[in-house]
Amino acid sequence: MSLPTEKLIEAHGLTVAFGTGPTSTIAVDDASFMIGRGEAFGLIGESGCGKSTILRALAGLNPDYSGAILFGDKEVSHRRDKAFFRRVQMVFQDPYASLHPRKMVQNVLLESLVIHDFDNHQERISAVLDAVGLEPAFRYRYPHELSGGQRQRVAIARALIIEPEILLLDEPTSALDVSVQAEILNLLKTLRRGRGLTYLMVTHDLAVVTHLCERVAIMHGGRILEEMTAERIREGEVQEQYSRDFLAASIGYKAMAHA
Ligand SMILES: Nc1ncnc2c1ncn2[C@@H]1O[C@H](COP(=O)(O)OP(=O)(O)O)[C@@H](O)[C@H]1O
Ligand SMILES: [Mg+2]
Repeated sequence: MSLPTEKLIEAHGLTVAFGTGPTSTIAVDDASFMIGRGEAFGLIGESGCGKSTILRALAGLNPDYSGAILFGDKEVSHRRDKAFFRRVQMVFQDPYASLHPRKMVQNVLLESLVIHDFDNHQERISAVLDAVGLEPAFRYRYPHELSGGQRQRVAIARALIIEPEILLLDEPTSALDVSVQAEILNLLKTLRRGRGLTYLMVTHDLAVVTHLCERVAIMHGGRILEEMTAERIREGEVQEQYSRDFLAASIGYKAMAHA
């Protein structure tokens, strides 16, 4: 496996616990990984294994972690500043919950621009709508007038409009119909290529992760069990028994779904 030239994201012994005493849960246990500039890295595992908690810690949404998180060569402080969000943006699973119901699409996009002191608002809004495959008239729509896929396009546009380097994607297609999932994954692929973006994507779906990511880490019970190329995953060449069972279950489920 050829390693990427420039390290962009690094987690070192990342640990996150919720609560204290006998009822506490270690949601993420000593997780370490590295993502190169321009790479798409996936975290996969069953529900509750700690994927979103890792993403949220990276995004600064959960400041209570131990271990180190580095962007570029610098360790970031637990409280992120505005400059951080200029570089790192997130897209969430549920496009219904992530857009304010009373905000027109253009206002959702404008807000990102204003927060981050961008100029040429109208041009940037037009350009980003075009980039995510939405007609100009979508500017004037409200979330309830949009399908799930269109909402997710708006959420992606909101993240992209400030030209970040990194997208953190938390199950970005899990709430969508299968046909729409493929459209959004293909859009993410195209955007990454065109803009040299770096992705960290979390999903429980094997097909989704191997479609978009070159490298994948398999998680279980808060730990990263093993890390490998998507190609090796597709070919079932994993080391750990749990990984094998997880893959077999995923493939079995797909076979059933298509029967
Ligand atoms: N805010 C929270 N408070 C308490 N427990 C949490 C919180 N967020 C997540 N957890 C627990 O941490 C574990 C990992 O959750 P999560 O990262 O959401 O898993 P995944 O995204 O892989 O489904 C689960 O046991 C979950 O119940
Ligand atoms: Mg999750």
